[in-house]
Amino acid sequence: MRAKIKCLGFTLLAISAACAAVDLPGDHQEEVSKTPAISTPSFTPPDESKLPQDDFGAMVRLGKEIFVNTHAQAAKYVGNGLNCSNCHLDSGRHAHSAPLWAAYVSYPAYRKKTQRVDTYEERIQGCFRYSMNGVAPPSGSRELTALVSYSYWLASGAPVGVKLAGAGYPELPKPTNAPDINRGAKVYAENCVLCHGANGEGTKAEGRYAFPPLWGADSFNWGAGMHRINTAAGFIKGNMPLAKPNSLSDQDAWDVAAFVVSHERPADPRFTTSLAVTKKKYHDEMCYYGEQVNGHAVGASLQATAK
Ligand code: HEC
Ligand code: HEC
Repeated sequence: MRAKIKCLGFTLLAISAACAAVDLPGDHQEEVSKTPAISTPSFTPPDESKLPQDDFGAMVRLGKEIFVNTHAQAAKYVGNGLNCSNCHLDSGRHAHSAPLWAAYVSYPAYRKKTQRVDTYEERIQGCFRYSMNGVAPPSGSRELTALVSYSYWLASGAPVGVKLAGAGYPELPKPTNAPDINRGAKVYAENCVLCHGANGEGTKAEGRYAFPPLWGADSFNWGAGMHRINTAAGFIKGNMPLAKPNSLSDQDAWDVAAFVVSHERPADPRFTTSLAVTKKKYHDEMCYYGEQVNGHAVGASLQATAK
């Protein structure tokens, strides 16, 4: 039952040395470099009542609508049951759930995942491809312009090139014990199953997800940042269970994250040749891709649904 994670022990050592999940060797999915940070000032995005009643205001409103209702508003670019705001809470305003106002002022940035400097537009395109298991709206499309306008407006008055307090997801200190799927299953049954379902399938009301799916065909794919144990653990600790953030112990957050991301989900769209080759190229990191879980290698079984 226990999956062997070759790189996990090594990565955890690296974390303990660095005291934070930054700069993990071989971690292809490492997010935005934290280097430009000069200080971490706090910031509050403007109230919606401040939005101008003009063409720009209309574009910002459209961006918000797409962000919270992605499935309906940008259907041709979405390949699962999620909306952007499922992982970027409170319409992208919530601190510690990768808020858009903090993101907007930290691009362009070098990313290990793409191994080059990405613009803000390209970062959003990445979330469409992986987190939304879809296709990236092209530069100049109404959808992308609206999402960038919304982010820009939320960041009104924020300093540029600075890491704002509440940016990204919390980085948890290394767990006392290596993350464990079996312990995580218990944490899940006690704290998550009510909303997200026994099979991680989420809960639907009137044909729409009221509570989003955590794994399976309608969730984020194997290329998404959330499939990494450390990213999921930080998100969960700071944001879940909904309405009870920071109520889980760090160890429980690591364990339940391991349980959630050890399940099958849509294929990594970067898949080439075989699981082993794809794993080597993109998944030498904190994740279960290509590892044996419950007697089979996860990462392959939803291949057919890949967009
Ligand atoms: C399954 C969860 C999930 C969904 C759905 C999702 N994202 Fe993300 N997003 C993430 C993760 C994880 C990161 C990496 C955060 C970090 O740097 O710690 C991220 C990062 C970002 C960033 C950069 C944040 C930063 O601080 O650098 C932006 C912008 C973004 N997402 C926009 C979007 C948009 C727009 C959508 C919808 C089209 C979307 N996301 C959907 C999980 C998600
Ligand atoms: C009271 C209902 C509720 C409970 C309990 C709950 N969640 Fe959630 N969860 C949500 C909702 C709602 C969202 C989407 C947030 C939004 O759209 O504002 C979400 C989003 C998520 C996401 C990101 C979106 C996705 O589909 O991957 C993850 C991961 C997640 N929850 C994990 C957990 C875990 C793990 C637990 C237990 C420790 C948990 N949740 C408990 C309601 C809940």
